[in-house]
Amino acid sequence: MGGSELILQETRGSLALLRLNRPQALNALNHALMDELENALDRIEKDAAIRAVVIAGSERAFAAGADIKEMDSKTSEQMSADPHLGRWDKLGAFPKPTIAAVSGFALGGGCELALACDMIVASESAVFGQPEILIGVIPGAGGTVRLAKALGKQRAMELVLTGRRVTAREAAALGLVNRVAPVESYLDEALKLAEQVAAQPPLAARAAKTSILHALDVGLSDALSAERRLFWELFDTEDQKEGMKAFVEKRKAVFRGR
Ligand code: CAA
Repeated sequence: MGGSELILQETRGSLALLRLNRPQALNALNHALMDELENALDRIEKDAAIRAVVIAGSERAFAAGADIKEMDSKTSEQMSADPHLGRWDKLGAFPKPTIAAVSGFALGGGCELALACDMIVASESAVFGQPEILIGVIPGAGGTVRLAKALGKQRAMELVLTGRRVTAREAAALGLVNRVAPVESYLDEALKLAEQVAAQPPLAARAAKTSILHALDVGLSDALSAERRLFWELFDTEDQKEGMKAFVEKRKAVFRGR
């Protein structure tokens, strides 16, 4: 296990595991922690050997939100001049697949961090929620937007307007998480899913992610045109030639990321 204090980084084959490590504050996402997370992701982006990222917290808390103690006395002007919340969007647009492994509290900015990832694997003890309304604000790191896109209007309204917490099982029923596993194995489940994704040809994985995120951002016909362009572009890659040739020759493809 290497890395700096607030983010512990481990490399497992073609996966990077990033663990939020601020236990005394239930991994509240202060500036220092999010700085380290951003730096770790910047390094991973440049490292061609890493094909997928798992972000986890501890068993007790994925993250209990943005750090309330860093913002309780701020003005609107100060908040809007602070690039902090943009880091959630940067994670959302990260070019390699990302999976949140969530146990314990995933509240406010913590829930938003998980939502910014491509997939969520939850432990049976996970608790999701956007409690910002209970402290006089609204989600500011994508919660209203990503929840509305993921769950639809009515469900997003309920969660954001009541601030109520949902269990892992309810989150699964709502479609908020991909799968739920026992506390003892949720991280392994997340790593297994990440391995499955990391084994895919990376240029195709990147194109797939780009297309899905784009589809959430634009109208249907723009999204379909963009998908088709990305599909066509992959025909200039070695991996497409190899993947299709291997199919025809009835053998396993060897992808090189080119
Ligand atoms: N910010 C700062 N500190 C936090 C925190 C947060 N979001 N969440 C927990 N902590 C700190 C507590 O202040 C406490 O510190 P001290 O020991 O120094 O008092 C420590 O973590 C442990 O927390 P609790 O004693 O409260 O633990 P608990 O088990 O009794 O309760 C909890 C756990 C229900 C998660 C509770 O801590 C809680 O409600 N936290 C805040 C949740 C929240 O409102 N999150 C939204 C934040 S705003 C936001 O995220 C905006 C946005 O959209 C980006």
